[in-house]
Amino acid sequence: MSETPSALFRYNNQEFSLPIRQGSEAEQAIDISQLREKTGLITFDDGFGNTGSCQSAITYIEGEKGILRYRGYPIEQLAEHSNFVETAYLVIYGELPTQEQRSQFSALLTENAAIHERMVYLFESYPRDAHPMALLGAMVNALACYYPHLATNNHDRDIINFDDAAATLISKVRTITAMAYRMSRGLPVIYPKRGLKYCENFLHMMFSEPYDMYECPDVVARALNLILLLHADHEQNCSTATVRMVASSGANLFASAAAGICALWGPLHGGANQAVIEMLQAIHAEGDDGSRFIAAAKDGKRRLMGFGHRVYKNYDPRAKIIGKACDDLLREMGINDPLLDIARLLEQTALRDSYFVERKLYPNVDFYSGIIMRAIGIPLNMFTVMFAIGRMPGWVANWREVATVGKPKIYRPRQIYVGSQVRDYVPMEKR
Ligand code: ACO
Repeated sequence: MSETPSALFRYNNQEFSLPIRQGSEAEQAIDISQLREKTGLITFDDGFGNTGSCQSAITYIEGEKGILRYRGYPIEQLAEHSNFVETAYLVIYGELPTQEQRSQFSALLTENAAIHERMVYLFESYPRDAHPMALLGAMVNALACYYPHLATNNHDRDIINFDDAAATLISKVRTITAMAYRMSRGLPVIYPKRGLKYCENFLHMMFSEPYDMYECPDVVARALNLILLLHADHEQNCSTATVRMVASSGANLFASAAAGICALWGPLHGGANQAVIEMLQAIHAEGDDGSRFIAAAKDGKRRLMGFGHRVYKNYDPRAKIIGKACDDLLREMGINDPLLDIARLLEQTALRDSYFVERKLYPNVDFYSGIIMRAIGIPLNMFTVMFAIGRMPGWVANWREVATVGKPKIYRPRQIYVGSQVRDYVPMEKR
């Protein structure tokens, strides 16, 4: 990152110059790190829409143009040529793996697929109908209890074991997910099977029975790989920023990822994929083709879930890829899903409607991913968990950046206090 001419800031008849920072894609930022010291002022940016919280070399997004690149590689090329595991390696380590690196990474994932047997008892103690996101957050945090040598809360030490910790997290998260699913249904747990690829192994643990092995159709493995790959990282979104925030305190990878899972759960973030299907189901149940819902969304009475994005003010490139994959999957599997028809009508109507056009609201990645997951057989309350599995490489890469790049600095924003001014304590009898 080079330094270019500065911006002039005038306050109280004094002038201060603030350096302009430039990123590798020529995006520019005013560096205000000396602002408070020089002027006594802080900045206020509700929702952080104008705030760069870090420098990062992982993902580049240009929202106005609908551009998304992992480590410089356009998402469209990765979607066409790569798969989730290779992309995970790229996101975490910065380069596409050689054949040898790819084999070693796969071997590490295989080696770390099973969870500690005592963790199985943890599942037993949760209610059967516990939300899988609550379970996932708890179990990922609990990894630090079972693998304490990978979670010392000392970044220098944790980095020595980083490869193992990263593989543990990325591999076990699918085992934990499948186990939560099986137990919630009173089904016997299916253990990971050597020799199966990442997505196939996950679907095996989900859908095989002890007496009947699930045969994964190629089209399903492809679709799942695509969904996970498209979610692998997305710059400083709510959950990733949370992961970095927690990591900045020196916390270990598992604790930081568990915090990311909690942030992802909300319906304005990862929870949107579940909310989209619930919205489509409600529209279908009400006998609406989508037009009544659009009118209600424009009146501010409903929100068109899966539409709009804080950063993309053009088509979310992932939505384009996934929309097409959704058509292909349903056609190849011979599925006729009425929710897809409603989704298409909502999309076409919104893309022509001035309310959505003026606000630059386009379908986001969640708009079609739910329809694909339904077709694969993933239950609705697990959609956000699937997002978390996909996002894991991004969280791992961001944790690593915090732990290794530059001098670690704890994230600690300021605030504008708007509460009561100083007042004296009131004894109970006088309140
Ligand atoms: N439906 C209807 N109107 C919308 C929608 C929507 N989905 N999204 C935004 N708007 C409207 C707002 O009402 C507002 O209108 P106004 O200017 O008349 O008040 C305007 O567009 C700007 O909306 P904001 O909420 O200020 O935009 P922001 O950038 O803060 O929010 C967000 C982005 C949270 C994604 C929002 O578009 C939304 O709630 N979308 C639906 C939920 C969703 O799909 N989330 C997934 C995001 S992608 C991801 O996390 C993977």
